[in-house]
Amino acid sequence: MAPILKLFIFLDALHPLVTATPFLKVDCGRAALSAAADAYIAAQTAGSITPLQSLFAPNWTYTENNKVIPHTAGVLHKALKIEHRRTNFDTVACATYTELVAPSGPYVIGTQIRHSADGSKVTSIDSVASTTGSWLFNATKTLEYIVKEKWDKIPDGKFDTREKIQAAGDAYLDMWSDAHAHEKVPWGTPCVRLEGSVYTGKGAADDSCQPGIPSNHSQAPNTHRRYVIDQELGSVSIFCVWEHMMNAADSHEFKLENGKLRFVHTMTTCGDKVCKL
Ligand SMILES: *[C@@H]1O[C@H](CO)[C@@H](O)[C@H](O)[C@H]1NC(C)=O
Ligand SMILES: *[C@@H]1O[C@H](CO)[C@@H](O)[C@H](O)[C@H]1NC(C)=O
Ligand SMILES: *[C@@H]1O[C@H](CO)[C@@H](O)[C@H](O)[C@H]1NC(C)=O
Repeated sequence: MAPILKLFIFLDALHPLVTATPFLKVDCGRAALSAAADAYIAAQTAGSITPLQSLFAPNWTYTENNKVIPHTAGVLHKALKIEHRRTNFDTVACATYTELVAPSGPYVIGTQIRHSADGSKVTSIDSVASTTGSWLFNATKTLEYIVKEKWDKIPDGKFDTREKIQAAGDAYLDMWSDAHAHEKVPWGTPCVRLEGSVYTGKGAADDSCQPGIPSNHSQAPNTHRRYVIDQELGSVSIFCVWEHMMNAADSHEFKLENGKLRFVHTMTTCGDKVCKL
């Protein structure tokens, strides 16, 4: 009986607050999310989890390339010289996505960090760690393209809804298994894709993301999707299983501008195998 009683007391106490502020949302706060993302970068730089230690929930999990593994066996324990990082903040889901490039590793890594509901504790670190043998991999070249891009914040008052941002990414990932999905992607112009180290754009005003999109819509779907949505940046990071290429671990990040698709970044790794179509 005791826990149930406690729950009722809690809900009762919460009730007046909820009615008084109908738009109350969960907000982890950027400060807590940002501190953990910075600690993660410090940890990856040092090759040691010490900078993160005080932030971990006791039962935190470490996932690398879609497999839960002991963190000690992961790339997190390799000291890397990080030459680029960008973190996206999801203050509703209490999560961040960080893209990092370490050409000397060589590694290009995407990491989703999830927090407890109040943002205070890190409950999971989930990375897609691409390296030599990963799809279209060349970290030096990836970095050259990334540093030339300008990922602007969306002006205040112009944010797209979380649902719209996620739907754009989902429609794109559905193109492998749904003949009508491409009609739902909000294609923008210019738009560029950075797939591993291959760039579809020329820096021209009419760069398009549509050449080379899947023409076979009967392939395995991209499943087990995990999302980090940043409304200020207009972006969604989606991790998934890339079944149609050796069940690879895949990271797709989409950024919208003026409600239209502007940038796509991908990382796809086949673990200890060389990725092949
Ligand atoms: C970790 O512990 C918290 C609090 O006890 C619980 O809510 C959560 O489900 C646990 N997570 C995992 C992955 O076991
Ligand atoms: C990777 O890209 C760099 C920069 O474009 C290039 O100099 C280098 O030859 C490439 N490496 C391989 C293995 O293709
Ligand atoms: C499309 O992909 C499916 C699944 O891999 C395959 O069986 C089929 O032959 C492919 N169709 C074409 C036209 O390539």
